[in-house]
Amino acid sequence: MKKSAADLREMKGKEPISMLTAYTCPIARCLERAGIDVILVGDTWGMVEMGFESTRQVTMEHMCDNIAAVRRGAPDTHIIGDMPYQSDANAEVALGNARRFIDAGADSVKLEGPKYDIIEKLVTEGIEVCGHTGLTPQTVSSFKQVGRDEREANRVLEHAAGLANAGCYLVVLEHIPAELGEEVTRSIDIPAIGIGAGSACDGQVLVINDLMGLGDRWPPFSKQYLHLAELLREAAARYAREVKQRVFP
Ligand code: KIV
Repeated sequence: MKKSAADLREMKGKEPISMLTAYTCPIARCLERAGIDVILVGDTWGMVEMGFESTRQVTMEHMCDNIAAVRRGAPDTHIIGDMPYQSDANAEVALGNARRFIDAGADSVKLEGPKYDIIEKLVTEGIEVCGHTGLTPQTVSSFKQVGRDEREANRVLEHAAGLANAGCYLVVLEHIPAELGEEVTRSIDIPAIGIGAGSACDGQVLVINDLMGLGDRWPPFSKQYLHLAELLREAAARYAREVKQRVFP
């Protein structure tokens, strides 16, 4: 049964939350069958599927199409739609775009950074919001770990608290030291979902292409449960050989 934002919030301290990204219908279908708690239709799609240099090139149109495809594959799984760069530039713009996500099939939306006023507006209008702090790819110039010194660590702690106060029901913590991930998780009353934030978080999220090993390189904090790029290369080479040798069909 599909989990609501309230159900997910209730899981804090009881059961770790499993979240994976998905961008397409067949992958979403597999994730639903696997019993994943939440699917994030992330703007990482731009980098891992489109070959863009950054997530900043992703548009609302891309994301709405991806959300609709994922919803067709996973009718009974909570779907978070990731608001692309500048789609949440102010409260009015964010509200219009968040509603487009809900119409496309999302159950809630995710925003990067300490956009407290915008989050409050969305929550007041009945849209559930997942926050995102630590490394926030839409606005960084490097993908290095965040929160190593005291000033940065305090900023992450402050942002996580601010996001919870603004009404977020979940917060993603990206690429921060494990000790800081633990401190943030203990300091807020909503679930903290880590991606490179240590094992003490209330749940974990991975980019599906990283999990599948579909790509040439992966973030140091990810884990490859498959080596799909290699399997595909072998299958395609075998197919090419069989066509040349008239073995197939
Ligand atoms: O866009 C995305 O996939 C994300 C994850 C890295 C959390 O924001």
